[in-house]
Amino acid sequence: MRFPPHFLDEIRARLSVSQVVSRSVKLRRQGREFTGLSPFKQEKTPSFTVNDQKGFYHCFATGEHGDIFTFLIKTQGLSFPEAVEQLANEAGVPMPVSSPEAIVRGEQNDRLRDLTELAAQFYQDALNAPIAEKARNYLINRGLNREQVSKFRLGYAPNSRNALKQHLEKAGYTEKEIILSGMAIGGNDIPVPYDRFRDRIMFPIADLKQRVIAFGGRALDPGQPAKYLNSPETPLFHKGHQVYNGAGARKAAYDLKSVIVTEGYMDVIAMAGAGFENTVAPLGTALTIEQIQLLWRMASEPILCFDGDQAGKKAAFRSVETVLPHLKPGYSLKFAFLPDGEDPDDYIKNHGAGEMKNILDAAKPLSEVLWQKEFTASEWDTPERRAALEQNLISLINGVEDQTVKTHYLREIKSRLWRAFQKTGNQPEKSNQNWQKSSKSSSKSFSGKYGANSRQPATNSLLASPLMKGPEKQNLSHEAEVIDLIINHPWLLDTEDELFSSFKFTTEDAKKLRDALLEAQFALNPQNSLDSAAVQSHLEKLELHSLAAQMQRKVTQTGAKSAEPNANSNEVLRKWHELMVRHHKAEELERELDAAERAYREEGNQLNFERLESLRNALNQSMNEVL
Ligand code: UTP
Ligand code: MN
Repeated sequence: MRFPPHFLDEIRARLSVSQVVSRSVKLRRQGREFTGLSPFKQEKTPSFTVNDQKGFYHCFATGEHGDIFTFLIKTQGLSFPEAVEQLANEAGVPMPVSSPEAIVRGEQNDRLRDLTELAAQFYQDALNAPIAEKARNYLINRGLNREQVSKFRLGYAPNSRNALKQHLEKAGYTEKEIILSGMAIGGNDIPVPYDRFRDRIMFPIADLKQRVIAFGGRALDPGQPAKYLNSPETPLFHKGHQVYNGAGARKAAYDLKSVIVTEGYMDVIAMAGAGFENTVAPLGTALTIEQIQLLWRMASEPILCFDGDQAGKKAAFRSVETVLPHLKPGYSLKFAFLPDGEDPDDYIKNHGAGEMKNILDAAKPLSEVLWQKEFTASEWDTPERRAALEQNLISLINGVEDQTVKTHYLREIKSRLWRAFQKTGNQPEKSNQNWQKSSKSSSKSFSGKYGANSRQPATNSLLASPLMKGPEKQNLSHEAEVIDLIINHPWLLDTEDELFSSFKFTTEDAKKLRDALLEAQFALNPQNSLDSAAVQSHLEKLELHSLAAQMQRKVTQTGAKSAEPNANSNEVLRKWHELMVRHHKAEELERELDAAERAYREEGNQLNFERLESLRNALNQSMNEVL
């Protein structure tokens, strides 16, 4: 319904913003304005202001801005007409009189609502009648108790072509109205209209005011081609705009600041039975953006609960595509995945409410699912394919209308791409292993014809020198320390992951562990920082735990003083920086060593030899510093 502007202005004139706001926010007068703690955000210092002269509130922390109507919409989850109705009542402004057509439409809808309510009662009564024994047994077998049946007003549609129709006609409704309400099927080519729902368990669907507007019906006969049948679109029922149990879930969702979306009616009932009253379901179709917007009025990050199988993943991906263009700051979706083949109803029965809670707590953010969706779609083993991945992701993100959200998504995706591919080695890696290998080759092949990067020992005496073997061995303990530090203090990865992933490990073992640790952070994607236990179990899963233990033993064997597992974060960071600085210093020295070797090869004089030796000493010494 469209409200005339003068009517809305009249309400605004009679109710000040501070009057409406102060019922839920404690306000303090400050000059011409009022200030208080933002209702849109947890905060300690007030950033929320109200200006009665201008008729608006403004939150400097979140950018939320609006008048008395938007305030109720944003803070109580009301729809615009609901907010208007409530405030009109308070202000004592009579609701506007509608146009004649609107009045007719309003009256017709009132009659349809009454009709649908009567049908709901009819089905409820039928469930208690002798004919419904099979239906009652079915519900008992599915573990539903009396309370749940009455709370959700479950019913039974008798196996008759006209039982409901006759009942409704007796109450004074016309055949036309019964067809319009969707309760009977009729039309030009159907001489005798008949009841739409027959021999089914009936799930009434209510609007946000808890008025029944439609039904879903589950077949009792497993031979029925349509397991579930829903009311068609009617003047009251718009599938894509409403959700099952919206009214029931609303209060809990609002209080908990969380709303859960499952696929089916039975899931919603099972969830509510397990204590998750803030659960809704779409109505036999994929979630639409209108439904998501409805849910955003209840909670900023609805959790979508899907089956862990392929179909569930697909459904999740479809929701990602639906919502992506409409994301706005602070509003998103989360995705919880159940094990293959179990829906929430099954899962609660098999594992209990506590396990269900764990699944919900582990819900993944949208950005992660978007990434998974594209990343798992193909192999990204060539630069061209990786470029295609990047392009796909960017074009999806370009669809995001909100510029701020878009910017943050681009940043996030860039960092994920970087993390995913830094180990495929786009950058050349200088490897000490080559050095070791070539040092074993005969010195007689040394003749100065080698390429700039080939490192050949200069002389046999050098070959025999411990310096030639030393650095690699010492490198190992240095590398072991880096790995050890991350395993004991995985929170370092929150900020140090780029440094860690670009660290030039020389051994395959260390590289394996580095990749596993980076992967742990990516795969587990914890809400807060990674913890040691999660890292350990991830390493175990990859069967790398004994390698890790070996690596950690290396640290203690060399007597290196590493940060203890219970060291405080300052000590850990100091140790980390020390290792990093040392690493970069060694890299620098190695580069110089390279040049010195080249010079010695090309012009093997005493001066060059001494420079080479002194550099090797420096390198060795800097390795020792960390021990
Ligand atoms: P499911 O097939 O997963 O059924 O459909 P369910 O919810 O687990 O039901 P039970 O446990 O077998 O009783 C999920 C939802 O998809 C819609 C319904 O809304 C259903 O709750 N659906 C399913 C239909 O609309 N029509 C169908 O034929 C099947
Ligand atoms: Mn089910």
